[in-house]
Amino acid sequence: MSRTLPTAGARPAALALGVLWAFSACGDGPAPQRDALTASPAGPHGGFAGGSPAPISAAAVQAALRMSPVPPAPVDPTNLFDADPQAAELGRLLFHSTALSKDGDVSCATCHLPEQSFVDGRRLALGVLPLERHTMPLWNLAHQRWFFWDGRADSLWSQSLVPIEDPLEHAFTRAGVAHAIHDDAELRQRYERVFGALPPLEDALRFPAIARPVPANDRAHQLADEHARAKRGDEEHHTHLFGSGFRHPHQRAWDAMAAEDQEAVTSVFVNVGKALAAFQRLIESRDAPFDRFVAGLREGDPAGVASLSDSAARGFELFVGKARCISCHGGPLFTDLEFHDTGVPEVPGAPVDDPGRARGLEALRAFEFGVRSRWSDDPEGPAGVKVDFLPAAGHAHGPGEFKTPSLRSVASTPPYMHNGAFETLEEVVSFYATRETARATGTTEKILVPLGLTKEEQADLVAFLRSLTGAPLDLARFAAPNR
Ligand code: HEC
Ligand code: HEC
Repeated sequence: MSRTLPTAGARPAALALGVLWAFSACGDGPAPQRDALTASPAGPHGGFAGGSPAPISAAAVQAALRMSPVPPAPVDPTNLFDADPQAAELGRLLFHSTALSKDGDVSCATCHLPEQSFVDGRRLALGVLPLERHTMPLWNLAHQRWFFWDGRADSLWSQSLVPIEDPLEHAFTRAGVAHAIHDDAELRQRYERVFGALPPLEDALRFPAIARPVPANDRAHQLADEHARAKRGDEEHHTHLFGSGFRHPHQRAWDAMAAEDQEAVTSVFVNVGKALAAFQRLIESRDAPFDRFVAGLREGDPAGVASLSDSAARGFELFVGKARCISCHGGPLFTDLEFHDTGVPEVPGAPVDDPGRARGLEALRAFEFGVRSRWSDDPEGPAGVKVDFLPAAGHAHGPGEFKTPSLRSVASTPPYMHNGAFETLEEVVSFYATRETARATGTTEKILVPLGLTKEEQADLVAFLRSLTGAPLDLARFAAPNR
């Protein structure tokens, strides 16, 4: 992974072909691939061992070798429990637990359904209240650098805490989380085995059932407030919710707690995030037809090469060539891990002016659980480099920039884009090919111009995207455990 690159959050200066392949070309990840690259049987004319010609150009062969396989999941140094199987098993229970929500009816799996490729199929997500963004897939998360469409979390464990206290998603509190674990014999036993004894939560005076610090000026809280006002129909009375003087009841309960009890509750909460991360990093998309094709190229095995249909092979040639998809979707995860404005069209229910990364950066600066915070297990370490070089406020990111999604297993996760604007991969490809539905935002990446692709070429690109679907997971490992 290119975690050591000090370009964190910075807008790439140029989108020159190949510049953004840093992911596969350096860092601790794919060293074996580089060896394979030099030892590759693929010759200058795209031939592979046995003398038969590869079905793609020599340049495309070189690109393909850099894009497969997905390297082993790196361990996150900011989470001491990242690779701990017992933490992962606890994480699985927590992922499926509706006890970590306001009314006991929302879990992570409400929106990230294991049997549905860890998404919900909805255009915009629905938790306790409607969200204004589309649910993201959870494939190969250990390789990601920023989390959420706007990258407002900088580690997987800290990301996992946000939905729990988000008033639109689980609408729960960290004190509630500690109690839910304490009150469930199995959760408690598993928690204490990994993280040690819980604080004395039975002391109801010291540990209220519901309490948390409520962030100021947080988008989800503003939206929840709007929903509450609309429901009550009394504009006047509640407009001051985010004004001066008002203290949220969760905050009042929190303020009444002793500092060391707050600390103990937040520790439990942080550990929950670390266990959730240990579980989620096991969700891997590997061994797609494209990977078997690349292994075939590398090993000179025609059977492997035949894993890609002719149409998909032509699609790959376009992907790395004329269609320039690789400028942003490069590397084994098919993402540069950065943010761009692609001019995705408006959809009802999602704001047309979602500021994306610009607001994500602001939230990241104020983030309680950042990689440099005291809750990180390696606050001084290299994982923090990415936040040391964040661009200054108001610079570098225009509105409408969102994280480039990984394209691994993309065919299994419709609809697409941060607002779910497109139902099918055909629609996505036509969006890039024609730009007819693209919004003219003024900040759209200049590289995105009509590509002049024929209908057949568009179908080839879609066939290629379909070849990125990984081998099926053993769902028994990811489903709700029988309890
Ligand atoms: C109400 C539906 C919903 C629930 C419940 C939910 N999520 Fe999500 N998840 C989303 C949406 C929507 C996004 C993108 C939100 C954004 O960018 O603002 C997302 C983003 C993510 C991401 C970021 C992926 C990436 O590539 O950046 C992770 C990881 C994740 N969720 C894990 C979880 C975990 C763990 C839980 C339970 C604690 C959870 N989610 C609960 C809908 C949900
Ligand atoms: C300038 C960078 C850039 C280029 C070039 C680019 N993409 Fe994207 N792609 C993105 C970003 C950013 C998103 C998310 C946009 C959003 O949600 O607002 C995205 C989203 C997607 C998605 C939806 C994935 C999902 O899970 O929602 C697909 C599929 C996709 N791109 C395929 C392609 C193809 C095929 C090409 C070439 C024709 C291409 N992209 C070119 C940056 C790029």
